[in-house]
Amino acid sequence: MTVLHPETGASTPKTVKPNESTHAFTGLGDTNQLNPMFARAGEATDFPLDRIPDGESLPETAYQIVHDEAMLDGNARLNLATFVGTWMDPYASKLYAETADKNMIDKDEYPQTAAIETRCWTMLASLWNAPSAENAIGTSTIGSSEACMLGGLALKRRWQLARRAADKSTDKPNLILSSAVQVCWEKFCNYWDVEARYVPITDEHRVLDGFELEKYVDENTIGVVAIMGVTYTGMYEPVAQIAEALDRIQADTGLDVKIHVDGASGGMIAPFLQPELEWDFRVERVVSISTSAHKYGLVYPGLGWVVWRTVDDLPEELVFDVTYLGGHMPTFALNFSRPGAQVLLQYYLFLRLGRDGYYKVQKASQDVALYLSGEIARMDAFELWNDGSDIPVFAWQLTPGHTENWNLYHLSERLRLKGWLIPAYPMPDSISDLTVQRIVVRNGLSRNLAESLVEDIKEAVDYLDRLESPMPTEGLRSSFTH
Ligand SMILES: Cc1ncc(COP(=O)(O)O)c(C=O)c1O
Repeated sequence: MTVLHPETGASTPKTVKPNESTHAFTGLGDTNQLNPMFARAGEATDFPLDRIPDGESLPETAYQIVHDEAMLDGNARLNLATFVGTWMDPYASKLYAETADKNMIDKDEYPQTAAIETRCWTMLASLWNAPSAENAIGTSTIGSSEACMLGGLALKRRWQLARRAADKSTDKPNLILSSAVQVCWEKFCNYWDVEARYVPITDEHRVLDGFELEKYVDENTIGVVAIMGVTYTGMYEPVAQIAEALDRIQADTGLDVKIHVDGASGGMIAPFLQPELEWDFRVERVVSISTSAHKYGLVYPGLGWVVWRTVDDLPEELVFDVTYLGGHMPTFALNFSRPGAQVLLQYYLFLRLGRDGYYKVQKASQDVALYLSGEIARMDAFELWNDGSDIPVFAWQLTPGHTENWNLYHLSERLRLKGWLIPAYPMPDSISDLTVQRIVVRNGLSRNLAESLVEDIKEAVDYLDRLESPMPTEGLRSSFTH
């Protein structure tokens, strides 16, 4: 193979094998040979997809290939399907790059990260009005799913201990949940052999609200899950009302059933936007609360939190000791190794934003959600299911009788042409013949962008409404899988 000097055109005969660099491993010595990308002598750009390539490649080539493939994903900022953070400021990005090597479980090697983790959940215990933040206990997790599993496991073990102490069977634990619960709870029940008792949501009872709860509770009930920010719609479940229903059940039956609040999204919204709403440890039956730091905690993916009201609410036997500064540190987690950087990012945000800053960021998202839901409510084609005044998330349905020619899946597809990812999906089993579409407003969706989105929705609806015959429905699928 002959390598031509890109400027002089002089030829340098050289034999190069595929994947073999024409210069030293650093690849940066002879910059003349670096360009143009993907056309350099010996550069392999056709990598196998099913096995590790035999040879090495230049770092910038490998980088570019991966970078370019990632471009084919949707634009994260236009992804209005996800609850998960897609924007952090440059200081956060700097901190992230500096601390990407930290392993959260190495408490002995990274004692400061461990101390910061404790500081963060203690701050959350106080944000969520624990009677005494010092007497609460908590941990970081990889996300809400792990946090919910830990909350559920603590409920189960607490119930088992009480049953064994009373010499009663522990064969048939059950957990009470809304039918609109997030899939992590289905997993919890499946993985840990707990019967899931779903309370169906209906048009009259759009969330789990305590209605007919006595039909579900019995001596084998390990707890009730209340969701602050139902994934399907963003609506809050009325935790205090659920607790009152459980008080009545206790008065009638003697059964003392506790609540875990799944505050995946609302745990970081309600304290700032609805501080008067009593959903947290102010409600005595609430023994544990979980949240996703990577949702409205505003951190990049990979972090959740769970906090128990007091150390007594987390059965001691679930807690393991790891070595920490020559001493011991309690841990309760499903994973062993996991990134520590996100914990530092959370702490950065607590310091950077403070309560005022969190209020401003969440309020800005809520303002945009209310603006968008208001505009969508004004369109004849749609009826709102809720308006985004709980968490900044709302869902809508097609106005019954509006059209036979298209549905919300078609609208979702047309909006995709403009880059917007706005899922349409069926509601849970009890009302699965109803299809809704949902927008999650996150930090980073500005009012300007939202105005463009309204124009794009109007344009798409106008196009669909002018169709003279029905759109094909083959191959349409729900774009919502959680
Ligand atoms: C209510 C609720 N619980 C749990 C989860 C799972 O959260 P994560 O993705 O952090 O595991 C979600 C995610 O959307 C959720 O909305």
